[in-house]
Amino acid sequence: MIAMKNIDKSSLANAYRLFDSNDIEKIEVGSTQGLRDIHHYLFENLYDFAGEIRKFNISKGGFRFANALYLNEILLKIEQMPEENFEEIIAKYVEMNIAHPFMEGNGRSMRIWLDMILKKRLKKLVNWQFVDKILYLQAMERSPINDLELRTLLKENLTDQVDNREIIFKGIEQSYYYEGYEKNED
Ligand SMILES: Nc1ncnc2c1ncn2[C@@H]1O[C@H](COP(=O)(O)OP(=O)(O)O)[C@@H](O)[C@H]1O
Ligand SMILES: [Mg+2]
Repeated sequence: MIAMKNIDKSSLANAYRLFDSNDIEKIEVGSTQGLRDIHHYLFENLYDFAGEIRKFNISKGGFRFANALYLNEILLKIEQMPEENFEEIIAKYVEMNIAHPFMEGNGRSMRIWLDMILKKRLKKLVNWQFVDKILYLQAMERSPINDLELRTLLKENLTDQVDNREIIFKGIEQSYYYEGYEKNED
């Protein structure tokens, strides 16, 4: 069993439901609106800012994400970035991470957003269950300076089983695990 705070337990249930219901198919791929819709779906009734672009500046591990004053302009530019091949898709994901448009829940919503671009453009998904947490988080921290580590890590873990429910659900669990929800025995 996975022990976590209630707020996150219901968010995880929302993430499962997004795929179980096939509602994911209705969400626009690669756009800011699509990312906002995913965020809203995961965090509706949990965060009052579900789906809302932040108005405050935030930072993590000494890295300052995009200034809230320019965020809307930046997001317009990012959604227009090309996504024709793997390198371009990762570059777009990295820029969206630098934007970090929400107060919280960026990591979890953006990994789903990335997967939907990879599925549409390359008929592939990241098999997150095999992407090591420490290596992934280090690669993300490094990515604003150089995205080679991230590209290498994710490229090694692509799968073409895009409709495999087990891969999708294990991936969602791994995504929540990256953000601190440890499996334990109780
Ligand atoms: N120092 C950093 N520099 C750039 N990106 C980071 C850094 N630290 C964390 N990240 C990215 O931010 C994500 C966490 O963002 P957050 O809004 O807290 O999402 P969640 O609530 O889903 O955990 C991580 O999964 C990682 O992708
Ligand atoms: Mg977080």
